[in-house]
Amino acid sequence: MTKVGIIVGSLRKDSFSKQVAKNVTPLFPEGYETEFIEIGHLPLFNQDYEGDLGTPEVYTDFRNKIKGLDAVLFVTPEYNRSIPAVLKNALDVASRPYGESVWNGKPAAIISVSPGALAGFGANHHLRQVLSFLNMPVVQQPEAYIGSVHELLDESGKLNADTVQFLQSLVDALVDLINRHKA
Ligand code: FNR
Repeated sequence: MTKVGIIVGSLRKDSFSKQVAKNVTPLFPEGYETEFIEIGHLPLFNQDYEGDLGTPEVYTDFRNKIKGLDAVLFVTPEYNRSIPAVLKNALDVASRPYGESVWNGKPAAIISVSPGALAGFGANHHLRQVLSFLNMPVVQQPEAYIGSVHELLDESGKLNADTVQFLQSLVDALVDLINRHKA
């Protein structure tokens, strides 16, 4: 079984990003399982955790969870033209201690989500910059910018057929990247 972690950059209960992510999980083929990875409980990273304070247990659990994944799908809103702090914190936590980053080499894909027309372009590309440094091969095409998201979801949180079809092409590209990475 190939395991794909889904990391949502919003903690909001009715998050559009979370709703989009829920529409994506059924698009993975047989032999794949998806798991939503929680990040909201992680204390803000403090380098003293690597010294006097010691490692929080939740950091160890989180790092082990990421270690066990074959790939990661990030679905994130944009905050002030960048990624939400909660997502950056999670990326930082699992990148440490130095030289032991559990992100290293894991294939990834990015979906940015916004009710606005610019579709989270800034967040999408700031995230790409971080994942590049973390040595994660990222799906380059298609680029997934989901703008005006509130118009694409119905009341039950289902995305329209065209958007699902587009997101299927992203999932196919991620599966292809994972397979190439394994080969
Ligand atoms: C936003 N929002 C926003 N939207 C956008 O397209 N570009 C931006 O830079 C920002 N900046 C921003 C900052 C902060 C602090 C908040 C709270 C919100 C609006 C944002 O897209 C909207 O609230 C989404 O609904 C958030 O995503 P979720 O929680 O629905 O997934």
